[in-house]
Amino acid sequence: MQEWYEKIKNSTSQKELEDIRVAVFGKKGILAAEFAKMKSLPNEEKASFAKELNTHKEALMQLLTQKKEEISLKELESAMKEEALDVSLYSFKSNTGAFHPVMDTLDRIVEYFTALNFSLQTGSMVEDDFHNFEALNLPKYHPARDMQDTFYFKDEMLLRTHTSPVQIRTMTKQKPPIRMIAPGAVFRRDYDLTHTPMFHQVEGLLVDEKGKVSFANLKYILEDFLKYMFGDVNVRFRPSFFPFTEPSAEVDISCVFCKGDGCRVCSHTGWLEVLGCGIVDPNVFKAVGYKNVSGYAFGLGVERFAMLIHRIGDLRSLFEGDIRLLEQFA
Ligand code: DAH
Repeated sequence: MQEWYEKIKNSTSQKELEDIRVAVFGKKGILAAEFAKMKSLPNEEKASFAKELNTHKEALMQLLTQKKEEISLKELESAMKEEALDVSLYSFKSNTGAFHPVMDTLDRIVEYFTALNFSLQTGSMVEDDFHNFEALNLPKYHPARDMQDTFYFKDEMLLRTHTSPVQIRTMTKQKPPIRMIAPGAVFRRDYDLTHTPMFHQVEGLLVDEKGKVSFANLKYILEDFLKYMFGDVNVRFRPSFFPFTEPSAEVDISCVFCKGDGCRVCSHTGWLEVLGCGIVDPNVFKAVGYKNVSGYAFGLGVERFAMLIHRIGDLRSLFEGDIRLLEQFA
């Protein structure tokens, strides 16, 4: 009998087990053969013989069932391993997108002013001499035109040198009061570390009844705006000249690199110029036929803001299309 215990224990497949089962429990199996021997035994031995056989029968059956489960579990495991499907699909490494720092900066500027109910105006990049210069109190042969040399077409058409013509276009289209900003691309004949032939500006204009708009209003909003953009900086207004404003000012913030101590970026002055502004010149209102109004205006370069916010050293790198620049912002 003992050998069958071993055989069951050592079997490795269902088929083997089934063969053993038939050999042990089958009609012609060894148990049947053993029980058959009882007939020829003396009566007093029959009971203990049968008992012993039944014990084996039970024990063998139990072992067989146990082994059967063990084997089917193993078979299942190996079948799962073999048949396992790799449902994952090879994918290309995907790149995370990022906003271009110029557009990101522009978005923040627009966000600030639209929250204060400034409307968003757009003009045309190809402008005429009247809107770009003449109506802005920049007559032909005015020396201030020299600073804004541009690309000219026929018939006094040109690539706009600033977003200020949108002031004129909006005022001729609408009645006061006006509260607008105009973001967009502008063009100049410039190319160096801090100038590219195309860059972006945001123009601002507020017009209301005469006496209602003061330099104090302008100063307040620009200071608040610059703190929104640059954080905790000092702001100062310097007297300056623009043909379309009088008085005019240039606005500086304390240097974001050295916090005002003086460094290479701020030419050791502690200050960085960030925008131009002023009270709208009466000649501008005359050019659009506005009477009894007052207003302020301002204009800024978006790339300059982006460079200061993101500490970018060379303005030209913003337009070279090098993906590594964008990856830094992803
Ligand atoms: N248009 C000026 C420029 O491009 C910027 C500017 C200065 C705009 C003063 C304004 C302003 O509206 O009031 O340099």
